[in-house]
Amino acid sequence: MNEKISVPVTNDFCPQTLFCYGTYCDDGRPDFGLFCWFSYIWDGELGVMMCIGDEKQTKDNIRKNKYFSANLVTEKMLPMADYLGNSDGRDPKKITGNILIEKGRRLEAPILSDSPVVFELEAVRSFPLNEGEVFFCKIRNVLMDKNLTDESVSLEKRIRGIAPVSTTCETYFSWGGRALGGWGELAGREER
Ligand SMILES: Cc1cc2nc3c(=O)[nH]c(=O)nc-3n(C[C@H](O)[C@H](O)[C@H](O)COP(=O)(O)O)c2cc1C
Repeated sequence: MNEKISVPVTNDFCPQTLFCYGTYCDDGRPDFGLFCWFSYIWDGELGVMMCIGDEKQTKDNIRKNKYFSANLVTEKMLPMADYLGNSDGRDPKKITGNILIEKGRRLEAPILSDSPVVFELEAVRSFPLNEGEVFFCKIRNVLMDKNLTDESVSLEKRIRGIAPVSTTCETYFSWGGRALGGWGELAGREER
């Protein structure tokens, strides 16, 4: 049996799935940030809970409008997602024309064209903490690339095809477990 030792508080070695949250700002411009403190809840139906730390544009927008999108991050999207997680949405120049954006189908929230799975979410309750805030959200719609619903293709092949990224130890990992780079290292590597 492996010996266990106590370490300082951390979630290292506990991989998390990444999402880009899309919101609209007061002036109508779309904003996207990168997030991992995201999970699911049950309240008679599937819901989402997430935590946003310090003050930021995404938090202001969700508090005001309630509606936002959560766009699953894939390997193909990773340089863009890393950029979105390392640039401040209060700068109106953050979202450039190179980022392909569509409108949500059910809610007033922008979505990323490149993401194969998108939740359209409404924040219905929130709990302010000392520094962060936890939001409980209703899933108002799920958008999925049509080929993900093709049950004649094996599940393994379908998920390998989209290659969701996970993260732990401030490092991004491929679906197959390969290290893809540290947080903030990939921003700017996208084909602009
Ligand atoms: C890998 C990664 C995961 C992140 N996850 C979260 C998160 O779960 N909650 C949070 O408040 N910020 C998180 N951030 C930081 C936000 O992405 C960052 O504050 C960004 O500026 C938010 O976008 P905005 O300024 O347009 O609102 C994460 C950043 C990275 C690089």
